Amino acid sequence: MGQAEPVGQVAGVEQVAGVEQRGQPEIATNRVVDYYETAEHRALDLLTGGQIHLGYWPKDWRQEEGPASPAADLAEAASRLTRLLVAKSRVAAGERFIDIGCGVGGPALALVRERRCLVDGVTISPFQQEQAVARATRAGLAEQARFYLADALALPFAAASFAGGWFFESIFHMGHRPALVEARRVLQPGAVLLLTDVIDCGRLSEEEKQTARELCNVDYLTIDQYPALLADTGFELLELVDLTERVALPFATRFAAAVADRRAEILAIFSDDEERLARFAAVGEKFANIGYLLVACRVPA
Ligand SMILES: C[S@@+](CC[C@H](N)C(=O)[O-])C[C@H]1O[C@@H](n2cnc3c(N)ncnc32)[C@H](O)[C@@H]1O
Repeated sequence: MGQAEPVGQVAGVEQVAGVEQRGQPEIATNRVVDYYETAEHRALDLLTGGQIHLGYWPKDWRQEEGPASPAADLAEAASRLTRLLVAKSRVAAGERFIDIGCGVGGPALALVRERRCLVDGVTISPFQQEQAVARATRAGLAEQARFYLADALALPFAAASFAGGWFFESIFHMGHRPALVEARRVLQPGAVLLLTDVIDCGRLSEEEKQTARELCNVDYLTIDQYPALLADTGFELLELVDLTERVALPFATRFAAAVADRRAEILAIFSDDEERLARFAAVGEKFANIGYLLVACRVPA
């Protein structure tokens, strides 16, 4: 079975009926592009091995001793979160899967290796798309994992192209409703869609929400908004799991130590700017106020 061929621009924001608009889409996506091309994201890539997401800590991290190698702990937690999603994906060998907001390709390649499926990844960042293609080529998986520069709200694929898909820590940049409507269009009947999302769990101040929106177009939903959102956009809810205690809180606690572990390499990325390094190390703490959700849903058969 071949991969889905891009069919050009389809279903742009203004073409999707009943969709709320959040400012001018072009400005919003430009903000996201800038955000992912910063040295901070190169540093995160270094720490997590091509996975631009948080991590999963299965045990009660409050009871544990601090890890011997905080950097290895962070990288392993990022891989564990990827493995969790891979395990929940129901895609079979040879089937097509869409990774919407694919970053630099780490999770897509893990899925291809485990399931022997065909992945089409899309990102709004030209830098990430190049990195993802290079990563797939280095891994000898460029045929199985392809990466496109495209907007999640106008996916360049025909309707019902994919047997499964995910938004792996990406939907909060896009506008949840239009992103789900567009994902629903390209998924086949019966396809399972997974997503992880940063959410408002009641600890975020209005100022924090505003800052995140201005920085990179983040919109935080609450867990309670999900069932109606999925029903409205044509999905059946399968699973809704609050992972705040397993993902966001341990990340908030452990990120700075991981940065300290790889200080020299990260400082080189920041051209020896110590203040920038300190600001980067402090980013982790912000996740103490943010919730984390895992969702599985299905297009009705
Ligand atoms: C936190 S990163 C997650 C990357 C990847 N899923 C991973 O886990 O490594 C968010 C991703 O969403 C992508 N993104 C944000 N808005 C987008 C949009 N409108 N269209 C396509 N991709 C988008 C970003 O470019 C980035 O790749």
